[in-house]
Amino acid sequence: ETITAFQKTLLNWYDQHKRDLPWRKDHDPYHVWVSEIMLQQTQVQTVIPYYLRFMKEFPTVQALADADEAHLMKAWEGLGYYSRARNLQKAARQIVTDYHGQWPTTVKGLQELSGVGPYTAGAIASIAFNQPVAAIDGNAFRVFSRLLEIDDDVAKPQTRKVFENVVDQIISKDRPGDFNQAIMDLGTSYMSAANYDSSHSPVKEFNQAYLDGIEDQFPVKTKK
Ligand code: ADE
Repeated sequence: ETITAFQKTLLNWYDQHKRDLPWRKDHDPYHVWVSEIMLQQTQVQTVIPYYLRFMKEFPTVQALADADEAHLMKAWEGLGYYSRARNLQKAARQIVTDYHGQWPTTVKGLQELSGVGPYTAGAIASIAFNQPVAAIDGNAFRVFSRLLEIDDDVAKPQTRKVFENVVDQIISKDRPGDFNQAIMDLGTSYMSAANYDSSHSPVKEFNQAYLDGIEDQFPVKTKK
């Protein structure tokens, strides 16, 4: 039915057009986690060289846990929001010390880690641990609000749950990590914040707001 057709169309497009990004070479939770933290406030093209250098300097969770502060801050220099780097190291120490090197694999468990919120937990759980869970960031709000004409106010904290529940229903159970990453790619290409012209989007036939000509009405976001 529609959900299966949507998954198939989205994943076929992803297989053919996914961006070749260094953190997509494997599903190592350390790689997924560091990339997702870097990508929170920084664009992909900026993150790439930082990510590559970071992995050279701190190739494992253990290495990050052991890093000295000056070395870590040097590696982060230019990325900004330095609390992200401090939280990364805090979480690395949690994993090494509290979890004896074993990653938590559930959304709930992952959120116990310093600096890991619902989006990042969903991204790690789905990409690294193959769990069929949503990863709702700005891209996902935009894409799913348009596809399904969801008019809940995305500025309200309780709206995240609405989107998570919807996406938990339609995410691919076979390839949840690829599904979420395909949505991220879609959100920065055919369905970017500036681009309301989805006429070339691979999933345009599933995009209700596009079909109704009202994409510019989504996502609904009140000014705070
Ligand atoms: N933005 C956030 N996470 C991403 C990912 N895994 N790939 C590409 N862009 C992203």
